This record gives sequence, C-alpha cells and structure tokens, in this order.
Amino acid sequence: MRRKVIAGNWKMNMLPGEAIEFINELTPLVKDTENEVILCVPYTDLFYALLTAQNTNIKIGAQNMHFEESGAYTGEVSGKMLKSINVEYVIIGHSERRQYFAETDETVNKKVKAAFKYELKPIVCVGETLEEREAGKTVDIITKQTELALEGLTNEQVENTIIAYEPIWAIGTGKTATSEDANNSIKEIRNKIEKIYGQETASRVIIQYGGSVKSGNSKELFGMSDIDGGLVGGASLKAEEFSKIVNFDK
Ligand code: PGA
Repeated sequence: MRRKVIAGNWKMNMLPGEAIEFINELTPLVKDTENEVILCVPYTDLFYALLTAQNTNIKIGAQNMHFEESGAYTGEVSGKMLKSINVEYVIIGHSERRQYFAETDETVNKKVKAAFKYELKPIVCVGETLEEREAGKTVDIITKQTELALEGLTNEQVENTIIAYEPIWAIGTGKTATSEDANNSIKEIRNKIEKIYGQETASRVIIQYGGSVKSGNSKELFGMSDIDGGLVGGASLKAEEFSKIVNFDK
C-alpha cells in the first residue's frame, strides 16, 4: 500500500513569524496522522519553519531550486544550499514556474537530477492547460512531461520522486477535476512509468492530485485508487483547514 502524502504549497505567502505561528498551530492538529505532512514554504521561511517543525511529524520543503551547485546565478538557490539547512523536499516544475519563469521540461529534468544529487526528494508537477484539455491532448501532455522529468533516473530515484498531477485550469480557480477524471489521469501517468520503469516501480511512486483541493473535496479525491494525496495551495494557508485535509481519513 502506498502512503498518502499531503503537501502544502504556500507559494509567495507567509512571513517568518506567520510560518512559526502556523506550524505551532498545526502541530497538535496533525500529530496523530499516519499520512505524510509536508509544507513547502518560501526561502525566507525555510530556516524558521525547520526549527519550529523539529520533533514534529511535519516535514519542510522548498518551492524551487537551481540545478547548478553554485556560481554566477544571481538570485538563485541551489540544492546544495537547501540540503545544508536540512530541507527534505523541493517542488520542481510547478506550472507557475513553467508559465512565468521559463521552466521547461529540460530544466525540470536537470533540477530533478540535482535534487537527488543533494539528497532532496523532488515533488514534480505536471499538468495540462485548459486549451490542451479541450483539444483532447491531456494524456499526451502529462505523460510526456512525466517521461521527460524522470529521464535518466534510476528505478530507485523514480520510486522516491513524488509526482503532483495539477491540471492548470484547476489551480487557484476553485474548479477541481472530478475525482474519476483526476484518478484516470493519474493512472495514465502510472501506466507511462510502468512502461519505462516496470510494474514494481510504477506501483510505488506517489502521485498526488493538486488544483483547488480543500477540506470539502479531499476525502473523495484522496479516496480514489490511484490518488496518493495532494499538493494544496490556497487551502494550505490556514492551519485548521489544512489539518482537515491532512486528516481526510479520520
Ligand atoms: P490551489 O494550488 O490549491 O490553490 O489550487 C495548488 C498548487 O498550485 O499547487
């Protein structure tokens, strides 16, 4: 049985003081869950979040990283830097980064490889736009993005990659994919992984759904056969609401 992984993506929100307050509020609310709880926070919150989450079951991730280790890349942060303060996870290839910051399948793949080099666990985002969906290209797009993101990884690395299927039209819009639809897309991603890496590896990869997940729909979504939890944006900014999503199975 795959575990359920619920990750919050705070995006460009929350100052350090708010992060500390949030984690202190969340800690008792999620301490009994068997699900994995991750918060992906802005760089400026990482250190505070890591300290506050020490001795809890809350894990901390970043929202991006550069693929090079160091060098003349003004404004960038490397995997080595994240690892040096004990960050565990890193989101790679979020659609907002693909859309606004020129992230491509190629840079996503480089970043995923760099994440493993520095022992960070990548949460790789894939997903189709509304236009692509309406043109019937969803499966092609998401399986191709998955294949390219994972290119060159070992089976073990693939098994340690979390994939977040996030249809772009569902992000921050209040529109969610139906649970059947999300489950089917995720099955297609898993099938693709099976074709390349074999059944055993495919059956172990955690594949989340993301896009307007909230406490009111998490139970139905995460109850589906292939949806192994979620990547949660807006609804991860309030501790109580986020705790309900983490505790969807209680
Ligand atoms: P949302 O964002 O939950 O606010 O739709 C999800 C995401 O972008 O990861």
